[in-house]
Amino acid sequence: MREMARTGAQGASGGHRSPRGGRVLGCLLAVVVAVLAAAPSAQAAAPGIPEGAALWYACTQPQYYGPLNLECPLPYDPRYLRTFLSEFQRFTPENEFKMMYLEPEVNIFDFGLADQIAAFARANGKTIRGHTLVWGDQLPYWVQHPLLPWSKYLLLEMMAGYVETVVGHFATHYPGVVTEWDVVNEPLGPDGKLRRSTWERVIGGAYIRDALEYAHAADPTAKLAINEGNTDFLGPKTEALLSLAAGLKRDGVPLDVIGFEAHVTPRTAPTVGQLVAVWRRFAAVGLNVEVTELDVDDDPGGDTRAAKDAVFRTYAEACREAGNCTGFTVWGVADPYSWLGQTGGALLYGVNFAASPVVGLINGILDGPVQPLAAGPSATPTKRASPARRHARPRSRHHRHTTRRHTSGRARSRRR
Ligand code: G3I
Repeated sequence: MREMARTGAQGASGGHRSPRGGRVLGCLLAVVVAVLAAAPSAQAAAPGIPEGAALWYACTQPQYYGPLNLECPLPYDPRYLRTFLSEFQRFTPENEFKMMYLEPEVNIFDFGLADQIAAFARANGKTIRGHTLVWGDQLPYWVQHPLLPWSKYLLLEMMAGYVETVVGHFATHYPGVVTEWDVVNEPLGPDGKLRRSTWERVIGGAYIRDALEYAHAADPTAKLAINEGNTDFLGPKTEALLSLAAGLKRDGVPLDVIGFEAHVTPRTAPTVGQLVAVWRRFAAVGLNVEVTELDVDDDPGGDTRAAKDAVFRTYAEACREAGNCTGFTVWGVADPYSWLGQTGGALLYGVNFAASPVVGLINGILDGPVQPLAAGPSATPTKRASPARRHARPRSRHHRHTTRRHTSGRARSRRR
C-alpha cells in the first residue's frame, strides 16, 4: 500500500571543486558507499512492516499459461495488476504453491506455473511468502489415496523429498524471491489438539519439527513459519500453539514466525489489546508474528464499511504496537477476487478497485522502522541431529520410487 524505499547513493551534484575538496568528498563518498554496502538489502530496509496480498497470478495476465483449474475466475482486468503492483510489496500465491499443484503426480513435479510466478515477482521487485509446504488440505490425490498405505518412514521420506525439492528449487533458481515459507499450515484443531491429517496420522506430531528442519536445510536464509487460524484470543487453541512453538524454540528447531491468518468478521475480531497480549506471549519465547490472511467477512445481517475498516485498523495497530509483528498480508487484492465470493467489503479494495478509506490510515500505521526480534535458530546451524538421522529411515524397495524427478513445467502446462 505504499512504495518500497529505494536504497542507493545519490550522485554528487556538479560544480568545480578543489583537488583537496575532491579528496575529502571522495573519502566521504567512500564512507557512504561502504555504509550502504554494509546495510541490509533493499527488501530488509523497507520503511515499515511489509504489506502483502494473496495473489491469483492468472488474474495478473492478459494471457495465462498454466493449469486450467488455476486460471483467473474472472475476465482479465488490468486494474488487478495495477492495484497489486502499486499497493503491495509482496504476495502469497493463493493456491499455486500448494502440493496438489506442485507435485500433482507421484514423483512428478510441475514448476511450470510456479516458475512464471517467481519470475513475475523478481521482474516487479516483489517478494513471495511461500504457501504452503505441509498442510492437510489441497494434497494431491496420490498422497491421500496411496496404492499401499503409507508407512511412517516412507511418508517422512516423501515429505523430506518434497520440502527439499520445492524450497531448494526457489532458493537455487530465484534467490531472494521466496523469502519466507509457511512450512506447516494449520497444524491444530479447534480444541488445540493436533489436527488430524495424513501427516499427523502417519508420522505423528514430529512431522512439524521435521518439516521445519528440512526446509531450513534447503534454504537457510528463508524465514520459516507455522501458520494457524483462530488463535487471535487467549484460549485453549492459542495456548496449544504457544506451547508447541515454545517447545520447538527450546529444542533449537528453526522456526522464526507464527502466522495469524485472521479470517474474521467484525463480531469475531479481537481488540488491539487482545491481539497484542497474544503476540507478546510469542515474543517472550523468541518468535515474531505476522498477519498472514486478513479478510473481514460479513456477520449475519451484514456489516457497514466502517465496521470492517475498524477491523483492518485493529490488526494494523496491533501489528505496530506489539513490537514483534513483521508482516501484514490481506487475503486478496480486491473484492471481486476474494475466496469469500464477492460479498463485498472483505478486502481493502472494492468491486471497482476503489481503495477503502482506511487504506491511508493503515499505511501510516505500518510505516516507520520495525525492530523485529533477532533471527531465530534458522540463522545458525542447528546442533540437533538431522531428522533423517534421528529417524534412521530404512532404505526400502520404495526408495527408488521416491527419487525426485523434475519435469519441464512448460511442457506440462496447458495453453488456454
Ligand atoms: O481445481 C478446481 C477446479 O477444477 C474447479 O473448476 C473449481 C470450481 O470451483 O475449483 C477448483 O479448486 C478450487 C481451488 O481453490 C483452486 O481454484 C477449490 O474449489 C477451492 O475450494 C479452492 O479454495 C481455496 C482454499 O484455500 C482451499 O482450501 C481458496 O482459493 C484459498 O483462498 C483458500 O486459502 C486458504 C489458505 O490456503 C489457508 N488458510 C485458509 C484460507 C482460506 O480458506
